[in-house]
Amino acid sequence: MSNLYGDYNQKIDYVFKIVLIGDSAVGKSQLLSRFAKNEFSLDSKATIGVEFQTKTVALDHKTVKAQIWDTAGQERYRAVTSAYYRGAVGAMLVYDMTKRQSFDHMATWLDELRGHADKNIVIMLIGNKCDLGSLRAVPTEDAQEFAERENLFFMETSALEATNVDTAFQTVLTEIYRFFSKKSLAANNGTDNGNSGIKGIKIVVPNQEHDTGRKGGCCRSS
Ligand code: GTP
Ligand code: MG
Repeated sequence: MSNLYGDYNQKIDYVFKIVLIGDSAVGKSQLLSRFAKNEFSLDSKATIGVEFQTKTVALDHKTVKAQIWDTAGQERYRAVTSAYYRGAVGAMLVYDMTKRQSFDHMATWLDELRGHADKNIVIMLIGNKCDLGSLRAVPTEDAQEFAERENLFFMETSALEATNVDTAFQTVLTEIYRFFSKKSLAANNGTDNGNSGIKGIKIVVPNQEHDTGRKGGCCRSS
């Protein structure tokens, strides 16, 4: 049961719904599992319908509960779209950097997202499986260019090696938090003219974080 209190009975200040989207087998469920439980499985089953997991994080002395929704990339297993996107304030658009097609489909996923979600939703493009650098089929620059054009955040991650996974979710949560705190400030000042949407882009350079402690060529473009 969800209520105002988290695992340790601390008060939850915000609940942010984040949705994961992208083709089947790009690693959405494993990214979620890595972030929420620090677990990873190589023989992950395709998701059927919708699942979600939560993780409570501290942001700026507030307690934020991330409620992350995960659905099937396979069309035949997907749940009703509009219900999935309803109330989402963040989205992770995930492709597999070793599968060009999964990147080429990002525009279609983005269209679907923009068609159903709130206009101020924070969106991050994620190139997953950067541990498989030698099989790379999507240059970092291509993804960066797409992200800049579409005003998205961008990171390359590995759910397997836990590279950039926390950073990606934390970045989205922080941006959402910034938006809501700015909005309540503006409302208090009576200056919220409805134009306080999220503007600008931030490209996060890959390989900034490597939280397994392993050094390697992950996420480098070459
Ligand atoms: P659907 O539920 O069908 O939409 O797929 P999904 O996007 O949830 O993919 P899932 O997380 O089930 O991962 C698919 C396969 O990719 C599994 O075999 C995972 O173990 C593997 N995988 C996921 N993330 C990574 C990663 O970062 N690196 C590598 N090498 N494999 C990964
Ligand atoms: Mg899945």
